Amino acid sequence: MSEITPDEQLQKMRDDWDQRARENARYYVATGTTEWTDEDFFASGEKNVAEQILNDMENICQEKSPGEMRVLEIGCGAGRVTRALAKVFGEVHGVDVSGEMVRHAALALQDRPNAFVYQNNGKDLTVVPAVEFDFAFSSIVFQHIPSREVIENYVREVQRLLRPGALFKFQVQGNIAVRSQPDDTWLGVPFSERQATEMAHRCGFDPRYRHGAGQQYFWLWFFKR
Ligand SMILES: C[S@@+](CC[C@H](N)C(=O)[O-])C[C@H]1O[C@@H](n2cnc3c(N)ncnc32)[C@H](O)[C@@H]1O
Repeated sequence: MSEITPDEQLQKMRDDWDQRARENARYYVATGTTEWTDEDFFASGEKNVAEQILNDMENICQEKSPGEMRVLEIGCGAGRVTRALAKVFGEVHGVDVSGEMVRHAALALQDRPNAFVYQNNGKDLTVVPAVEFDFAFSSIVFQHIPSREVIENYVREVQRLLRPGALFKFQVQGNIAVRSQPDDTWLGVPFSERQATEMAHRCGFDPRYRHGAGQQYFWLWFFKR
């Protein structure tokens, strides 16, 4: 097991993702191709939103109108999903540990005045305005984080910012055979159903639904108590 302090690990997440963003941001965000066109890249974000959000509006909106909702995205990358979210919801705020990714996202969102992106420290949401959010989302981000503590800290931070009853829908690595190393910022720590459920309870959430346990795309629906 490689030795690395929590601060070194955060630094490594930032450096590695900045490096990936410089090399080919869109490929590392969505590895389907190394040569994304603008059209296809953003269409893939729209597809994710259609598959994860538009078909789940009852849980997400809870009778609020989407245009009046403020949404938070953890790990916005190059703005692929953020852009699609900004077409649906009133206000979208995204954070990412990589300043290079955030630079790409800001360019992608130039014509979306209701979308805001911030570089954060890789573990909390102190850069985000301390206002109440109606929904939080994260996809293909925690599967890359090699620290259970960092992921749980994000869950706690999202709980701090959500209004009571609101949903945090997110994906983690569910294949517990994955061997994550503390200095590997590509293969994140896996969660079993039990680990996910216990984390929800510790962080003040009701873990109401889950889908894909045991698989890479393990989706969790945590409702703020
Ligand atoms: C595979 S990309 C996905 C981006 C976006 N969610 C999407 O689907 O288009 C993973 C993103 O997570 C970000 N990331 C990795 N570790 C992070 C951390 N500890 N805190 C915040 N963002 C992180 C990376 O910089 C990268 O932009």
